[in-house]
Amino acid sequence: MAKNDIITINAFGEEIGRVGYDEDQRTSSFQYNPNFLQSGKYVNIFPNIIKRIPQVQVFRKFDNEHFRGLPPMIADSLPDSFGNTIFRAWLDANDKDYHQISVIEQLAYVSNRGMGALEYFPGKIIPKNATINLDEIIGVLEKVLSFKGDVKEDGLNTASLLNVFKIGTSAGGARPKILISEHKETGQIIPGDLEYSDAYNHYLVKLSLEENPAYSVEALEYAYYLTAQQAGIDMMDSHMIDNRHFATKRFDRQDGRKQHILTASGITGWAYSGSPVNSRYENLFKLALHLKLPHRDIEQLYRRMVFNVVYANTDDHLKNHSFIYDDQQDLWRLSPAYDVTYSLNPMLNVTRSSRALSINGKRTDIDLNDLIRIAEEFTIKSPKGIIEEVQSVEVLWQEQLHLQRLPERVIRKITGEMRRFEL
Ligand SMILES: Nc1ncnc2c1ncn2[C@@H]1O[C@H](COP(=O)(O)OP(=O)(O)O)[C@@H](O)[C@H]1O
Ligand SMILES: [Mg+2]
Repeated sequence: MAKNDIITINAFGEEIGRVGYDEDQRTSSFQYNPNFLQSGKYVNIFPNIIKRIPQVQVFRKFDNEHFRGLPPMIADSLPDSFGNTIFRAWLDANDKDYHQISVIEQLAYVSNRGMGALEYFPGKIIPKNATINLDEIIGVLEKVLSFKGDVKEDGLNTASLLNVFKIGTSAGGARPKILISEHKETGQIIPGDLEYSDAYNHYLVKLSLEENPAYSVEALEYAYYLTAQQAGIDMMDSHMIDNRHFATKRFDRQDGRKQHILTASGITGWAYSGSPVNSRYENLFKLALHLKLPHRDIEQLYRRMVFNVVYANTDDHLKNHSFIYDDQQDLWRLSPAYDVTYSLNPMLNVTRSSRALSINGKRTDIDLNDLIRIAEEFTIKSPKGIIEEVQSVEVLWQEQLHLQRLPERVIRKITGEMRRFEL
């Protein structure tokens, strides 16, 4: 067995339990801390799969690339493809082999630096540093992402990689991103979020690495963010940095506190890719009902679904929907929306793209009847009103695409994909 095979999970300053991984059996285990169970606090912290019992619970069925054997709500703390690329490069620079690192050891690297509120101890100690230089970080990322040979030969030193590793590995997703904190009064920017308090705004920044891209993916996401907000989609305040990078305030750091968040995939153990059986909007609505979300959140989810259909965001998979835990009231809510954008490459001539989550069994050519069927099943009172409101921001959407200086050809392609419903 790997040496670091058990780790403690903390949240809100409490020891919640311990998670282990048995490399021989390829199973993971979880056990609640008995004192935590008895305290009756945070009863709904793990709202699915993990039972509220004192015994050890063993998990076998998550032994796949998505959950790496862990209970899915814990696997949610691990980095995704972008974070893992950085993690590997950093290990490489330190003469460590990614394949020798157990999944529990990787949680130790996450420690108290992860997204959300779950923390893993004992953690790996990583030195702190106080400054941030965006250009340097971009330079390092460019090298890491185009990296083919030896990291060291590429002129990357451990110090610069460490910098990126600390602030770039925790958030999920595939695109390059870092976490930064901005002092509310002085405007000083510091790396990561180890100083989390009400004095700071915490941001997730999606970085544009290319100097002169054919079009800016980040500006496109910004145009979508402004449009979605106008369409009544609840999103965190976001802005562009240097007209180049997309910065969005983190919903897992609010009022100086860590917020516990889980993705739809993490709560359910449904893989977010390559899993057509579970990837259905109906499942997302059922999950929201299972979590006892208030009806306004169910309606909000419906609005997001409609928006994604109307404005052709097909990358609406189960990790692009999250839930946020209210630790004061021990209940779950829908998190603000994120990763809302035109997700295909508009430079390529892709037609009839298939959406990640099906609607009434369909991934293409969604019609009004499909949207109405969902509304009936989940008692959305005025679906046509919602569709109308979403469609009514079309002009603003077009204006924003121009204001963000997207090339005419890209705008034509994207606006050509709008799906209008006759009501
Ligand atoms: N505003 C936010 N606050 C907290 N977490 C966020 C926020 N936006 C995104 N995330 C988290 O970061 C992950 C990656 O962000 P996302 O925008 O989906 O990037 P990508 O385009 O690479 O998929 C998401 O899956 C989500 O868990
Ligand atoms: Mg995403």
